[in-house]
Amino acid sequence: MMARSLYSIGWKIVTEPGLASLVRRAYNQGVVMDTWMHGEWQADMMPQAQSRLTEWAEEFATQLSADEITCPLYILSVPYLTHLFQAVLTSMALFTVHTQSNIKQLTPRAVEEARGTLQQFAAQERSGLHAVVRVFHVIWFFEDLNALRYFRQLPRREFLSGISHRPWVKDLLADQLSLYLRMGLVKEWLTGQGETLRLTSRGQRILQELERVLEESGELAWRANQQRWDIFRDLNYDTVFHVVAPDSDQATQDFLDLLTVKPGMRVLEVGAGTGRVSVDMGLYKRVLPDGQITAVEPSAAMGDHLQDKCDKRQISNVQIVRARAEDLPFDGHQFDLTLSVAVLHFTEVDRAVREMTRVTKPGGWVTAAVPPPNMDIREIPMVALWLRPLNELAEEFGLPFGDRNGLPLGRLEEAFHQASLQDIKAWSAPITVTAEDCHAFFTFFVKGAAFFQHTLARLPYRERVHLLQHLEKRGEQIASQTQPEEKRHVYYGEAIWGRVSTN
Ligand SMILES: C[S@@+](CC[C@H](N)C(=O)[O-])C[C@H]1O[C@@H](n2cnc3c(N)ncnc32)[C@H](O)[C@@H]1O
Repeated sequence: MMARSLYSIGWKIVTEPGLASLVRRAYNQGVVMDTWMHGEWQADMMPQAQSRLTEWAEEFATQLSADEITCPLYILSVPYLTHLFQAVLTSMALFTVHTQSNIKQLTPRAVEEARGTLQQFAAQERSGLHAVVRVFHVIWFFEDLNALRYFRQLPRREFLSGISHRPWVKDLLADQLSLYLRMGLVKEWLTGQGETLRLTSRGQRILQELERVLEESGELAWRANQQRWDIFRDLNYDTVFHVVAPDSDQATQDFLDLLTVKPGMRVLEVGAGTGRVSVDMGLYKRVLPDGQITAVEPSAAMGDHLQDKCDKRQISNVQIVRARAEDLPFDGHQFDLTLSVAVLHFTEVDRAVREMTRVTKPGGWVTAAVPPPNMDIREIPMVALWLRPLNELAEEFGLPFGDRNGLPLGRLEEAFHQASLQDIKAWSAPITVTAEDCHAFFTFFVKGAAFFQHTLARLPYRERVHLLQHLEKRGEQIASQTQPEEKRHVYYGEAIWGRVSTN
């Protein structure tokens, strides 16, 4: 009886129409609860950060329990809520250090920012801090039940230690397991290995609903894309990119030669990365002595790298601006030329091209080079064999093998037409992609450039780490038995130009 009523309360909560938009609002405002899911990296916690974190988590917990909002599903005791807010604040602070800076330490400032963001979010929600608790439970129910579905069964002790699916927050697991048992989502079985846990059919149903909520809110797609964080920080982009696409510099050089770049021009590069185009390939020199390059880049790690490069080479006509293509922080008609290389497939392309057009002077050119349309790394014979386990998982889950792997053919041209650009021209150039250095290939394409990211994002944390390690070793083995011509494929990259109307 008890189990049934708790289950129906749970069912009612997960099927509430507003739940997906609540999750979306939380994430859009930086209330990010699963930072750990995006990468393997964990920050060192500065002692001062730790003590502030505990203090503020207690403050939130006390505030919430005083609100007298009760939920029959959750244990709203102060110690339970303190652990919960501690987990939320840590995750948010980690998210801040990941995205806003290059430091690998969880600082008191990041914790303070997390607290401010959380307060702001709660102030805008009708249910206040309780909204945080709701989102937290959506994420954690999903993590726990998804792990049980994936592994089919888990020893009770292993589940409680969190080792396989959430090694970072152990405190709440016992409480949550007892809730799952009372709701009838999980069943205990006695096997030869002792007590094991399995998902019941009710558990499956709730999990499916949670998956739908996370999908509808965009959280799963968002999570998949965030997996690139670590890579952008630690990866030596310049080295790896040249290894996996050795003739891309030549293709970019040919592309630059087709543009009319003259001394004195104001040029905007969108998604400048570490400055391969603006600095390494000498675009900044073409506008000297009095021209200026504005390099827009959203990733702090890439932007810092570019700044170091400019400082070391004493380049003073490249200005770096932290922003995204979709929201360029400039007045209209500022630039003589706006370009972007290997970026627009990561953006909302119509919005990005519209913005690039808006900031370009009448009569000026907007131009973009993009990777091969719908690029499929499985066309490299060695890669098809090597990544077969990941491909099989993607098929089993019914997920695409990538979604930022180049725009569909003609999509970029369509965006140029939609932005009312004129005299549109297209160009194409061969680009060889090679897996000869399998570590560089794996780092760039699987860990970095978002192939199979949806599949990886659905795996329980530990399984993802293990699978990535296993695949790296498998790559070495397969590479040693593969002929060089089976390790590469020639793709065709695209570029488009359009002129801003003078009317
Ligand atoms: C493959 S790199 C290309 C970097 C550089 N243009 C080059 O050719 O070497 C893609 C870059 O796009 C940036 N990026 C991703 N999403 C973006 C967005 N929405 N707006 C602008 N840049 C973005 C990434 O941070 C990264 O630096």
